[in-house]
Amino acid sequence: MSAAAPRPGPLRLGVLGCSAIARRRTLPAIAEIPELTTTAVASRDPAKAAEFAARFGGTPTGYAELVEDPGVDAIYLSLPTALHHEWAARALRAGKHVLCEKPLTDRGERTGELTGLARERGLVLRENFAFLHHPQHAVVADLLAGGRLGEPRTFTATFGIPPLPASDIRYSPELGGGALLDVGVYPIRAAQLLLGAGLEVVGAALRIDRERGVDLAGHALLVSPGGVFADLEFGFQHTYRSRYGVWGSAAALALDRAFTPPVEHRPLLRIDEQDHAEERVLAPAHQFRESLAAFARTALDRDPGESAWLDAAEETARLVDAVRERAVRAPV
Ligand SMILES: NC(=O)c1ccc[n+]([C@@H]2O[C@H](COP(=O)([O-])OP(=O)(O)OC[C@H]3O[C@@H](n4cnc5c(N)ncnc54)[C@H](OP(=O)(O)O)[C@@H]3O)[C@@H](O)[C@H]2O)c1
Repeated sequence: MSAAAPRPGPLRLGVLGCSAIARRRTLPAIAEIPELTTTAVASRDPAKAAEFAARFGGTPTGYAELVEDPGVDAIYLSLPTALHHEWAARALRAGKHVLCEKPLTDRGERTGELTGLARERGLVLRENFAFLHHPQHAVVADLLAGGRLGEPRTFTATFGIPPLPASDIRYSPELGGGALLDVGVYPIRAAQLLLGAGLEVVGAALRIDRERGVDLAGHALLVSPGGVFADLEFGFQHTYRSRYGVWGSAAALALDRAFTPPVEHRPLLRIDEQDHAEERVLAPAHQFRESLAAFARTALDRDPGESAWLDAAEETARLVDAVRERAVRAPV
């Protein structure tokens, strides 16, 4: 089935999976977005669906019923990563737009199948990398384009979080766990954003949990077609760190809280030159709300620029596969 004609809105959203992120971030933010309304919430557990529906609105239902519901225009999918492919494919085949939690899938081939379905059917398919909606990155991109740092030589990015409860989905290989897919994808996507397409992985290392078989941390070295290096670190065995920097021929730039800044956070951008330092305080932003609102507007308007998101998702998946293939594994 292909997509219905554009409608005036709001976009009727079905929430697939009553996850922690849906409870904590997505559903509260939807209530603030006029272009979106929660029409149905699906869980494997009817009591959980009923609890979510009572709290956030919408009709409680099951996964299969939700994707076939004619009253639903779009699906927000926040299942464990290994289940994204199956359920996003079902939703796209049923003619629904899909906002899928990052990463879109666990393999490049599966991501390609989903982007193919979205292109073929003219549907919006986005990976919910909320950080891309924070205007702080456009400031950095403008500084780079304007030559403020001279020629960029190295991009460094780090995203790490403390250990999670033992039962967390991120420790399960069957559910698509591991640090690369959970936190590693952020530095990769940021490198794509600031260095452009065509990055190649030249080396990587992953620290593997011997018992559980998932990667707990990693490090990857990428190179851009113009010879700029991207040195990326990630993990969930660390103190919280979420930052990136660009080291250029004329100056170096550093941005802290780059991936998950709190809503009120006023980002601090620092530029260092040999004999001069400059700090700029930037505007705060609710990046999660912006991501949801942008998805809704795009789905309602059928934005023709949408294919850039599909290209970027394919590129992220290709790089994740390449990190896996090249990585030296250190069992711990
Ligand atoms: N964009 C962001 O900032 C952000 C932040 C955190 C997480 N995420 C992404 O969101 C996704 C979910 O993460 P989360 O931390 O919210 O996970 P979570 O709390 O464990 O939620 C996952 C949900 O998936 C459903 N599910 C279906 N089969 C399952 C199974 N076999 N085991 C466990 N759950 C199963 C469950 O919903 P029902 O019980 O209702 O069926 C569960 O609540 C991941 O892809 C993650 O990478 C994104």
